[in-house]
Amino acid sequence: MKIIEVKDYQQMSNKAAEYIIEKVVQNPSIKLGLATGGTPIGTYKSLIEDHKKNGTSYQKVTTFNLDEYIGLAGDNKNSYRYFMDDQLFNYIDINKAKTNIPSGIAADFQDECNRYEDLIAKHGGVDLQILGIGSNGHIGFNEPGTSFASKTHIVKLAPSTIQANARFFKGMEEVPTQAITMGISTIMKSKEILLLVSGDNKKEALYRLMNGEISESFPASVLKNHPCVTIIADKAAIADLKVQC
Ligand code: GLP
Repeated sequence: MKIIEVKDYQQMSNKAAEYIIEKVVQNPSIKLGLATGGTPIGTYKSLIEDHKKNGTSYQKVTTFNLDEYIGLAGDNKNSYRYFMDDQLFNYIDINKAKTNIPSGIAADFQDECNRYEDLIAKHGGVDLQILGIGSNGHIGFNEPGTSFASKTHIVKLAPSTIQANARFFKGMEEVPTQAITMGISTIMKSKEILLLVSGDNKKEALYRLMNGEISESFPASVLKNHPCVTIIADKAAIADLKVQC
């Protein structure tokens, strides 16, 4: 894993956007894996600014998001579909029909998981997957204990994740308790992974990722088995690594 240190959230966002733009320019039909949460918001802002200023085009790009809450329709402000439209897709020239997110209101969620996994495979897999990390090491919504062999599946969210994500909702009781997420093996099939880590509340997770063992009890540790991972982390998140040097 290669780690790039940047000053702060803004710099992380700029650097990540530069990285993605370069890949899109090299391969206009790229399959991008996208993430939600607070971490990538700045990156998406930078992509929008660049699109307006330099005209980088996303017309041929296909996207696959990591996850979606079960029970939330796309027009619900807290759904990840709404998030993606609102934070990125509505402001670039992407073809919405090429933007894929698991459905939170499918008639049969197991069928939806299978459909999504197959859809990614049919497109030849994800070329570049953007990831954030949960403070408990989750990637997508793969909570500690998830099998490294998992495909797209239904998850019960950990209490710590529900608490962490409550900031986007009116209250904790409004946060769905289940989600559909790409599995760990789905994520690991991506040809390349870009992990973004920012802030003091992620420093323990980053420390454990860099220094801990590879274990299903810390899902992000699986990334050490991937041949092409770049981490962009800011000073606050890297702080604990420095103490050890
Ligand atoms: C959320 C998302 C993850 C995200 C992580 C960190 O629950 N499902 O994809 O990477 O938790 O979120 P944040 O970036 O808000 O810290």
